[in-house]
Amino acid sequence: MEIHELPAAMSACCRRLRARGSLGLVPTMGALHAGHMSLIAASRGRDAASVASIFVNPTQFGPGEDYHRYPRPREADLAMLEQAGVAAVFLPTPAVMYPDGYASYVEVEGYRDRLCGRSRPGHFRGVATVVLKLQQIVQPQRAYFGQKDAAQVAVLRRMFRDLNCDVEMVVCPIVREPDGLALSSRNQYLSPAERQSALALSRALHAIAQAYSAGQHAAASLLASGRKILAAEAGLRLDYLEAVHAETLLPVENAEHGTLIAAAAWAGSTRLIDNCLLD
Ligand code: PAJ
Repeated sequence: MEIHELPAAMSACCRRLRARGSLGLVPTMGALHAGHMSLIAASRGRDAASVASIFVNPTQFGPGEDYHRYPRPREADLAMLEQAGVAAVFLPTPAVMYPDGYASYVEVEGYRDRLCGRSRPGHFRGVATVVLKLQQIVQPQRAYFGQKDAAQVAVLRRMFRDLNCDVEMVVCPIVREPDGLALSSRNQYLSPAERQSALALSRALHAIAQAYSAGQHAAASLLASGRKILAAEAGLRLDYLEAVHAETLLPVENAEHGTLIAAAAWAGSTRLIDNCLLD
């Protein structure tokens, strides 16, 4: 497995890999878990070669967020990627990605006030900017993302379309613990009590999905039943629970097939997100 820190070296490596057939890119911030590895496995199953990036991207963190304490278990991450058959890893430093004088950012207009964009100003701008940079460096045929970050998927889909990126976006299902908790690199911040409280998120989403299947389609009623479950969990502070169109992220009054139910909540000082698509 090749490891590159510099964009020029990574681009040269990817050019060689593309000569073998389709190239898949899995962008990550590391602290890899089975959710990340499901994206790698999806790429390994479809692409002639798969590459990953590990970069804790400072521009998508707000002031006071967990940029500095975000886990960075490099050796373990690299071992997992090697084991999974990844051909190359891009492991840049912040100074390489954002050198002195760096001035270009991607703003996907309209999304900054939707879902996580509202409570994390600048977050989507940072994500869109770094993903476009990775896209330019690697130039993959396919890029893999998790449904876990449904708002990120919507923003990036819009960006790829608007900026004519020649890439197929593949979205993979949410990987969960047996008790329902969506896997996240941030779960390791949780105390046992906080982890227990966090389960209310997937419980609330599950209850909403069941109510929808039973014929309840008014978004206000669906969300009220979810909020009741979340409010009963004293250890959880709700940021948002919304029913939105999965592509525009705009609120809907009546849920339908494909409506996104998205939630974010704090368990102690850890912010967690989860979602489900109604069907
Ligand atoms: P990160 O949180 O490391 O996640 C990398 C990819 O793994 C994302 O596409 C995310 O949706 C996916 N993922 C995380 N947890 C998952 C789970 N439980 N099931 C399925 N997929 C899961 O998302 C980012 O990094 C960054 O914003 C990034 C796109 C790398 C840009 O910096």
